Amino acid sequence: MKLGVLVSGTGTNLQALIDAQLRGSLAPGELAVVVSNTPGAPALARATAANIPAVVVDHRGLDRLAFEDRLLAALAEHAVEAVVLAGFMRVLTAHFVERFPHRIVNTHPSLLPAFPGKDAPAQAIAHGVKLSGVTIHFVDANLDGGPIIEQVAVAVHADDTAATLHARIQHIEHQLLPEVVRRLAAGELSCQGRVVTHVGGRAE
Ligand code: GRF
Repeated sequence: MKLGVLVSGTGTNLQALIDAQLRGSLAPGELAVVVSNTPGAPALARATAANIPAVVVDHRGLDRLAFEDRLLAALAEHAVEAVVLAGFMRVLTAHFVERFPHRIVNTHPSLLPAFPGKDAPAQAIAHGVKLSGVTIHFVDANLDGGPIIEQVAVAVHADDTAATLHARIQHIEHQLLPEVVRRLAAGELSCQGRVVTHVGGRAE
């Protein structure tokens, strides 16, 4: 299954996907293209270094529909069948997500539905929660609101800053996201209403 990865920034989650592909543990998923809305995003260099086509679709000066149409065109050019949001900092509307029903996943650095949106680790610290974590979920038109595929809890330490908490969360994301993407590509995810189950997979 050909995968498109949408990025905006550093791309450590993209790197985890690239590393999984190199180990053979993303198959039958195959990284077909990386698209960034941010020119010069470090994630683009990671794609290029791995010989994966890297494309910029700059959102500036475009309305949402025009931006999404350009994203869709870039993905179609590479015959993309499923999409991974890996630190992609633009909201996608129904216009985009309805083209890939249950075929878009996002990784979010909190235990959703707590702390959707930006700066989730900082939100968690400001709220005083003692547990936060990672959520990998399907993307629908609700911001960080789609059906939850996997979650892993991460303890919040008394001396954590948003940066130290985010670093521990990302360490987990880097393991979890490639495995969820492999399951998606292998057709091992079933979604009934909001409830996602792992079906027909190999033993864990
Ligand atoms: C990740 O922590 C992800 O949860 C959030 O943005 C961050 C992206 O990091 N959506 P990177 O670009 O993959 O390093």
